[in-house]
Amino acid sequence: MRITVVGTGYVGLVTGCCFADLGNVVTCVDVNRKKVQELQKGFIPIYEPGLEEIVKRNRNKRLYFTTDLAKAVQNSDFVFIAVNTPPGKNGEVDITHVQEAAKGIARNLNGYKIIINKSTVPIGMGDIVTQIIQKHRTKKQSFDVVSNPEFLREGSAVTDLFKPERIVIGATSRSAAQKVAEIYKPLHRPILITDLKSAEMIKYASNAFLATKISFINEIANLCDQVGADITQVVKGMSYDSRIGGQFLNAGLGFGGSCFPKDVAGLVQIGKDHQFQFRLLPQVLEINRDQRKHFLKKVHKALGSLKGKTIAVWGLSFKPDTDDMREAPSLTIVPELTAQGAKVKVYDPVAMPQAKLFLKNVKYCKNAYEAAKSADAVLVLTEWHEFIQIDFQKLKKLVRKTVIVDGRNIYDPTQMAEKGFSYYGMGRGKPFVF
Ligand code: UDX
Ligand code: UDX
Repeated sequence: MRITVVGTGYVGLVTGCCFADLGNVVTCVDVNRKKVQELQKGFIPIYEPGLEEIVKRNRNKRLYFTTDLAKAVQNSDFVFIAVNTPPGKNGEVDITHVQEAAKGIARNLNGYKIIINKSTVPIGMGDIVTQIIQKHRTKKQSFDVVSNPEFLREGSAVTDLFKPERIVIGATSRSAAQKVAEIYKPLHRPILITDLKSAEMIKYASNAFLATKISFINEIANLCDQVGADITQVVKGMSYDSRIGGQFLNAGLGFGGSCFPKDVAGLVQIGKDHQFQFRLLPQVLEINRDQRKHFLKKVHKALGSLKGKTIAVWGLSFKPDTDDMREAPSLTIVPELTAQGAKVKVYDPVAMPQAKLFLKNVKYCKNAYEAAKSADAVLVLTEWHEFIQIDFQKLKKLVRKTVIVDGRNIYDPTQMAEKGFSYYGMGRGKPFVF
């Protein structure tokens, strides 16, 4: 198939590269000239395991990068819109990039094409894109609009694209939906063909449900702190019930990233635009925001005043296996530490170049141990694997005080006590303090 993907961000780039790897001829378009030039040279602007090899394998054979939207559209039958849909000031979904992309596509229709919304767009956006194209299209070219939301998790986006648990395709024209389904046939995964609005709602409802799971378990964890229960044991006991399952119930600092905060706030706004007032989802967001404060209270409990204290922060990205800092807990926690007079030393295996754009007045260290040297406490903000593997004997000799505040529950309180560390987790029961 001849495919164009508009927008080469975390979503568009992975989608385009994987479609090429499936044997399609793919042109990835972006307005960001510098990004396109880097991609043309084979450099990947984001950290996504497995992506680099895919680009190397397909570049200049069936995978191309350009800023020329017109030419790309004219030479393709499928045009995916994967530009970003950032949150506006009161959480509404900013659809201007999608509208711009739709206009640019409409002006270059030189035959029947299928335009596919890959970006997370408000319910009803499929109809809006249809109207935009009808208004701006060259002559009376025929086209169809399809919704094909992405369910990619950063850090596992390539796997999620090649092994999706489901593919959702929403369209008014069944034949257009079938044609898009053809692209995914080689994956041999479940494909749901439905109407446009249901497809758009599936995406928001899925993300909002996952975010709700996280805020739910974080509230249970906060009660565990009060009563002295261990949330990891509680989740274990809950997970035997197949209706609950054990996934997405990791208590901790809460969710970040470019999707959950934006999509939950976006869904609340979409509700308001349709005279519907969500009551649960605003609470999900508030609980999530408060988790950062909850964590800082633990740091105070462990250290008292932070003035003059040296604090090591392990992990800056919003989750492991990505360099993405969007809505990362570190963006609120670290400035608060420095504001209260702490000397903060940070380390992240991958995200430090990104973090440097946002986090100032901190010392960037080359590894976890350097950050921990002379620290009065070590804070874990992202559960990178290398922190789980840490050598505690070595760590003990480096820190000034053996205190760990674990925002992602990666350690076991009993083992910490045996190793001589005061340990504060998120819902891990009464802390062992030396
Ligand atoms: C975004 C949203 O976060 C996600 O919810 C949605 O499902 C898909 O789009 P992401 O890929 O993370 O995902 O966005 P981002 O990393 O910001 O990349 C967007 C890209 O589109 C950027 O490279 C930007 O330069 C490009 N773009 C934006 C265009 O090419 N044209 C435009 O008009 C606007
Ligand atoms: C999410 C959805 O999983 C994906 O389907 C959608 O397409 C985009 O948004 P992503 O945001 O990349 O993917 O990461 P994910 O692994 O889902 O984690 C989201 C956030 O929730 C992270 O901040 C993570 O730290 C947090 N999280 C996740 C928890 O706090 N607890 C959990 O149990 C799981």
